[in-house]
Amino acid sequence: MSGNVRPETMERITTKALADKFIEEQVAKVRAMVGDRKVLLALSGGVDSSVVAALLIKAIGKQLVCVHVNHGLMRKGESEQVIEVFKNRLDANLIYIDATDRFLDKLANVADPERKRKIIGGEFIEVFNEEAKKLDGISFLAQGTIYPDILESDGVKAHHNVGGLPEDMKLELVEPVKLLFKDEVRVVGSALGLPDEMVYRQPFPGPGLGVRCLGAITRDRLHALREADAILREEFDNAGLAGKVWQYFIAVPDVKSVGVKDCKRYEGWPAIIRAVNTTDAMSATIEEIPYSLLHKITDRITGEVDGINRVLYDLTPKPVGTIEWE
Ligand code: XMP
Repeated sequence: MSGNVRPETMERITTKALADKFIEEQVAKVRAMVGDRKVLLALSGGVDSSVVAALLIKAIGKQLVCVHVNHGLMRKGESEQVIEVFKNRLDANLIYIDATDRFLDKLANVADPERKRKIIGGEFIEVFNEEAKKLDGISFLAQGTIYPDILESDGVKAHHNVGGLPEDMKLELVEPVKLLFKDEVRVVGSALGLPDEMVYRQPFPGPGLGVRCLGAITRDRLHALREADAILREEFDNAGLAGKVWQYFIAVPDVKSVGVKDCKRYEGWPAIIRAVNTTDAMSATIEEIPYSLLHKITDRITGEVDGINRVLYDLTPKPVGTIEWE
């Protein structure tokens, strides 16, 4: 897997036939490189790591060891989907670690966004390393590095969170999609048979819902955020907006206001809807969401989610607002 520069002659992968050809070439390369040794992969369930996992499963089957760390900040159903697709359907060698308590205990009472990020990133490395050390005979580390990561950084995926494997492990890197752009990774993922919900997933920050549960994270507010976000995604899906809006999610600030429910005073948090369109996430515009849909989402979230008593729609483009609230 030599070379970090995409040759100018390299054809853009836009069709299933081109994806199949790419897959065949990479399968042969990986087999030649890995032989009968073992490869470790941190499988987040995002597009890039999922496509790398599926490609490597095709190439080397159970010689690939996938580790999925659930940091407790995943969206509703995400870890379950990773298990369903990779363990049940693709018969992967998958280690699932539910580290929710470890992460949430460390994050308790921490309100500063940068400190929250550091704790989540640091804990991720620790959990992953603990797992890696338990495994025998791993020779390679697979990564879902893609071409923009190489163009934008020094080739190490900044938000990958897996930055510090134990020194004594000395693993060689396997990065089969490192010369591909995101749209090509998606075509390859589809050709490998991954489900659309995984291949066309919207971007999701490494620290997950941790950047959307604003201030110090509590389990009840995180739960409310996850449920409200699931309703938003379901309603956008039903309204045919899922492929039209680049990123949409809920943020829940650490603020309560007074409301009324069942004729009684009801204090709750607001759920803030963010729905933006962009090409590069450097700037973003606000999607025009039909009012009828906003009313429906509001009714469902306030009716179904404990702790939420208002729904707000953020109309701020980037700049001035960033996409995440953090
Ligand atoms: P902002 O909030 O800076 O976000 O306008 C721009 C885009 O980046 C995403 N984002 C992240 N993605 N790891 C990621 O992979 C991260 O730590 C991270 N933080 C923000 C954000 O969701 C938006 O799409």
